[in-house]
Amino acid sequence: MPTQQRKILVTSALPYANGAIHIGHLVEYLQTDIWVRFQKLRGHICTYVCATDAHGTPIMLKAREQGVTPEALTEKLSAEFVKDFSDFGIEFDNYHTTHSAENEALVGEIYATLRASGDIYTRTIEQAYDEQEGMFLPDRFVRGTCPRCGSEDQYGDACEICGATYAPSELLDAVSVLSGTTPVKRESEHYFFKLSKYEEHLRAWIKDAALEKNVVAKLEEWFAVGLQDWDISRDAPYFGFRIPGTEDKYFYVWLDAPVGYMASFKNLCDRDDNLDFDDYWKPGSDAELYHFIGKDIVYFHTLFWPAVLRSAGFRTPTSVHTHGFLTVGGKKMSKSRGTFITARTYLDNLNPSYLRYYYAAKLGPTIDDIDLNLDDLVARVNSDLVGKLINIASRCAGFISKHFDGQLADELPDHALFAAFADASESIAEHYERREYSKAMRQIMGLADKANRYIDDNKPWVMVKDEAKIAEVQGVCTQGLNMFRSLMIFLSPVIPVVAKDARAYLREENWRWRDASSPLLGTVLPKFRPLLTRVDADQVQSMVEQSRKSANPGMGDR
Ligand code: MSP
Ligand code: ZN
Repeated sequence: MPTQQRKILVTSALPYANGAIHIGHLVEYLQTDIWVRFQKLRGHICTYVCATDAHGTPIMLKAREQGVTPEALTEKLSAEFVKDFSDFGIEFDNYHTTHSAENEALVGEIYATLRASGDIYTRTIEQAYDEQEGMFLPDRFVRGTCPRCGSEDQYGDACEICGATYAPSELLDAVSVLSGTTPVKRESEHYFFKLSKYEEHLRAWIKDAALEKNVVAKLEEWFAVGLQDWDISRDAPYFGFRIPGTEDKYFYVWLDAPVGYMASFKNLCDRDDNLDFDDYWKPGSDAELYHFIGKDIVYFHTLFWPAVLRSAGFRTPTSVHTHGFLTVGGKKMSKSRGTFITARTYLDNLNPSYLRYYYAAKLGPTIDDIDLNLDDLVARVNSDLVGKLINIASRCAGFISKHFDGQLADELPDHALFAAFADASESIAEHYERREYSKAMRQIMGLADKANRYIDDNKPWVMVKDEAKIAEVQGVCTQGLNMFRSLMIFLSPVIPVVAKDARAYLREENWRWRDASSPLLGTVLPKFRPLLTRVDADQVQSMVEQSRKSANPGMGDR
């Protein structure tokens, strides 16, 4: 089974610094964290980087509204994000910000190369302008009546009622969200990237990247319409990096945001002698590069980003892994229903291991939305984690400490049964590798059932009462605890904190994936303490209440 050690660089999308991390975001960060922990457990060199996405109009305006600088706002939110992620056990190798020196330097370098390749040109365009605020308005900052169906109060780019898409100038009685005044049309010179030039390269890349079939279908639609060149500039006032050689033009946030992946990695390389930036980013690199993203940002990651990398002379991603959106109880997260749950509100009420396991039990490799059903979470965690998994250890540990001074037997009584666990290890690994977490969880819980059946059949609690059988009890419980140990190793990417406590109980320094296939024998174990308690439905209720109370009327649902 010795596989070659892989070098893997992994990213999650960079969260915008204009609101708190919520349980929707966590689908992505947990999915990625589980995958990265799995790769590390397998002995690969896997590096997970992320950063705060600091730039753009919404963040600039939010800062203004709060009377602080955008730098101060993004720093404050970044500190909260870091705490939220770490409390959920999401372990980045580096967490940075797009408003950094590394990012500015890389964006500058990339832009210079794009220009040199002849991929940048300027064109004058007409845009909605708010004369009172003195700024151009992004589409989302213009509202009005839909020109197609007549629905009132629709966004400047699309109607939520009939699905029509249009330019803000087509809206009937348009107003600026900022001042309430009627926007005027104004011309300005913009910088464009020749995306259309890269169609062939993109088609080839999409094949190599083996993207999910729904994503490919979406891309086919975009190709059919024809790729539009990409407007990468914004006029001042804007929070971002100024375009070199201009006075008042800034790079659009979506140009510098993915470069933030590189910048975060660069920032790490600068203090880690074992990592070399070029080794991961030059064409022909033997390292793998994966971006985990949500389905709303596919266009940026599968068209703009690979094309920009190609034009700038860097390697392209090995693949982009796209997940669906979170619904709660089958509906969109909602502040009024109390299902817009921030990471912090969750943590105030529930153990993060519960959500980590629940998401893992639900997640697959497709862009299907995933539903969080709170009753189901309670039921599943209590039945699988507490009732099946932890229970294996609770049923065996007491006998070992009480009758054998904590010492495990030197031999397993049932080698064939343990071999069934070892044999499952490659199939479970395959599921993790393919992001088929729900399949991995199902297989692991199937083995937990097997372990519990073994204990039921042997009944150590009856055996201890029989002097002649007392020695056998040590064997049966050693067998039980070893099955528990293998399952904990398999689950350690999902519930790392529980696994760490289990490992400490088993007095082991660290675990690698293959350790699940060789038993632990003869060790003297300390007294067993329950590793996880049942979810209390009342705590779930109080989390929902707390979310409802902190609902902020007038704010969007995302
Ligand atoms: N800043 C951009 C990403 C730039 S990457 C170079 C962004 N930020 S975000 O904060 O809006 O979203 C971060 C990630 O969380 C995205 O991948 C997004 O799809 C994901 N999710 C945000 N809300 C979500 C749900 N409700 N459900 C699942 N994922 C969600 O986009
Ligand atoms: Zn409409």
